Amino acid sequence: MSASVRLSCGLIGFVDSTETDRTQSFAVAPIFIAMSWFLFFLSTIFVCCRANVCPCERPELCQQIREERDFEVFVFDVGGKTWKSYNWSMVTTVATFGKYDAELMCHAHSKGARVVLKGDVPLSDIVDQDNRTAWITEKVSQAKSQFMDGINIDIEQAVEEDSPEYHALTALVKESTETFHREIPGSQVSFDVAWSLKCIDKRCYDYITIAESCDLLFVMSYDEQSQIMGDCIAMANAPLHQTLAGLLCRCFIINQEKKAIFNTTKFLSFFLCFQLMTNLLK
Ligand SMILES: *[C@@H]1O[C@H](CO)[C@@H](O)[C@H](O)[C@H]1NC(C)=O
Ligand SMILES: *[C@@H]1O[C@H](CO)[C@@H](O)[C@H](O)[C@H]1NC(C)=O
Ligand SMILES: *[C@@H]1O[C@H](CO)[C@@H](O)[C@H](O)[C@H]1NC(C)=O
Repeated sequence: MSASVRLSCGLIGFVDSTETDRTQSFAVAPIFIAMSWFLFFLSTIFVCCRANVCPCERPELCQQIREERDFEVFVFDVGGKTWKSYNWSMVTTVATFGKYDAELMCHAHSKGARVVLKGDVPLSDIVDQDNRTAWITEKVSQAKSQFMDGINIDIEQAVEEDSPEYHALTALVKESTETFHREIPGSQVSFDVAWSLKCIDKRCYDYITIAESCDLLFVMSYDEQSQIMGDCIAMANAPLHQTLAGLLCRCFIINQEKKAIFNTTKFLSFFLCFQLMTNLLK
């Protein structure tokens, strides 16, 4: 794929360099007008193929990751080159919250890890169905042109239960998942949630339907002191027992109501993993 792309781009480069000579005799013969349209047509191809040239050393590194995982090590990358120090034998997904870095994408793919977009939008803008579809279409085409493997939807906005925004958010996650899965086979759509289901920071979302329609929920247990009602006293951001309670409640409720993301085997391995962590920390 990349060879043919490079070939046609090389050709356009050559055609473009003759363009200055041509403009001098522009009015002389109609053939030049036809030619200029031809050049315009070719430069359109140039623009379109240039955006999709694989930046990796080997073209196969631009192929999206399709492998399904039972256990994810999910990284939020905020830019710079710190990714060079990640332990890549553990990382399975990198959500890029910084500037897009093609080198990071190539490297992640060489290690079998996914690289996903960050997705955030004011909910009031996507209550409208056309706006919602437009947002999703734009994200999918961005992911495709950057050879990425999905999207991490990080909407941390306050939402009233049963409001237009509440339903729009649920629909956004569902439609994003459907579109990404259809357009980029094997892609991953994840959604970031607070540590507890109980309307943390007024994020009263339809968690069960959201969990059911996306590939995975990322529980932001690193951020548990956001609701400070009493004295502002320094406390742990992720106290172990509160974290565990939040996670288990979430798994249990989602599992009970819709048998969604956690089947019993997964639930149990999750529990054992946390028990192990508790023991290690003793
Ligand atoms: C990276 O992770 C692997 C797997 O857990 C581990 O065996 C290895 O020691 C780690 N490497 C470093 C440099 O920490
Ligand atoms: C559609 O989205 C734009 C921003 O992208 C916003 O300004 C506009 O109000 C939205 N339209 C509707 C009908 O929600
Ligand atoms: C439950 O999850 C385990 C581990 O991922 C998997 O092997 C098993 O097939 C799943 N069971 C069902 C009923 O989906």
